[in-house]
Amino acid sequence: MKSKVALIFGVTGQDGSYLSELLLKNKYKVHGVKRRSSLINTKRVDHLFYDNKNFHLHYGDVTDTLSIINLIKKIKPDEIYNLAAQSHVKVSFEIPLYTADVDALGSLRILEAIKLIDKKIKYYQASSSEMFGNTDKKIQDEKTKFNPQSVYGISKVFSFYATKNYRDAHDIFACNGILFNHESSRRGETFVTKKIVDGLKKIKSGKSKKLVLGNLYSIRDWGHAKDFVYAMWKIMQMKKSDDYVISTNKQISVKKFVELVAKKLDIDIKWRGKGLNEKGYYKGRPIIEVSKKYFRPTDVNYLRGSYKKAKKLIGWKPKLDINYLIDEMLNN
Ligand code: NAP
Ligand code: GDD
Repeated sequence: MKSKVALIFGVTGQDGSYLSELLLKNKYKVHGVKRRSSLINTKRVDHLFYDNKNFHLHYGDVTDTLSIINLIKKIKPDEIYNLAAQSHVKVSFEIPLYTADVDALGSLRILEAIKLIDKKIKYYQASSSEMFGNTDKKIQDEKTKFNPQSVYGISKVFSFYATKNYRDAHDIFACNGILFNHESSRRGETFVTKKIVDGLKKIKSGKSKKLVLGNLYSIRDWGHAKDFVYAMWKIMQMKKSDDYVISTNKQISVKKFVELVAKKLDIDIKWRGKGLNEKGYYKGRPIIEVSKKYFRPTDVNYLRGSYKKAKKLIGWKPKLDINYLIDEMLNN
């Protein structure tokens, strides 16, 4: 049987690397799009590039329409996974136009290219729980109203609807995975879980004295990226294209995440103070501090998702819990 061909935009990111591994295991030919950068940005996929004849990298950029068209024409993919994004919510407050160009128009460019070149190509859009923003729903699902709190969230809402519209108007197999936060040892260093794990490890080994964070009371539904990329692939194998929430349905605060990591490192934290003066002490010394610098003008304070629809229709549920996640992040 002929191997399926996948094209991944955002292949050098956390999810792109795990998804590539999964697709290669499933006998796909995988083509990934990397951006030109002054520093090497392929460290998450170098092991595949050097060792696997079915893995290929190409230069491209979702802000560059012609590069998208040329790649699709050359590679003739069966499936396109659009994981490319300026993915940092706080950064989107500082570079809103660039964020919208990549995260909103980038998806539209790919969808339009599919429409022009071959409407049989399947499309996956990396939608996000940030689209729900601040909501009064205790548990968010596919029916929950969007109320985004950043240009990142707004751009993802645009892409969500663009995907749905190309499905409805142009009969393209186009789906949204509405993924809640998912982490791993390959997580970008400025996201809070990775920052906490790296920061506390450095404190424990004496390489650093303190870790400075922002909103400790923000609540997230954190899963493992390996579990979540499996859901992306499952979504693309369905008979009909649709939109699915992918989450763990368990939520904890940033502060609790700090405590869980600290406990595994035998760091006994005592909290004192309130607001910007709250500090975490270890052996009488402040090792966790709070700074305004890491707060957002508007934050999403609470996210917890129901994966009921995914479980029922695609048979997906999370396998890796927060304990596994922290161990994997600490040990790799
Ligand atoms: P990530 O590690 O930040 O990866 C983002 C990828 O997009 C990187 O490969 C990056 O390339 C690439 N990229 C950025 N701008 C681009 C452009 N203009 N053209 C082409 N590629 C570009 O993010 P992730 O955690 O793997 O997330 C994957 C996708 O899922 C993103 O769209 C993100 O917004 C979305 N998402 C993530 C989560 C989560 O919790 N992780 C949850 C929901 C949705 P460089 O390596 O060169 O920077
Ligand atoms: N990054 C960061 N750094 N966040 C902090 C810090 C800090 O020092 N201190 C507290 N936080 C809080 C943020 O204010 C936010 O409420 C929460 O920790 C999580 O922040 P991030 O890890 O940056 O992730 P995010 O939830 O904003 O966005 C991630 O998840 C989205 C899905 O909900 C990203 O992966 C997005 O791309 C993704 O769509």
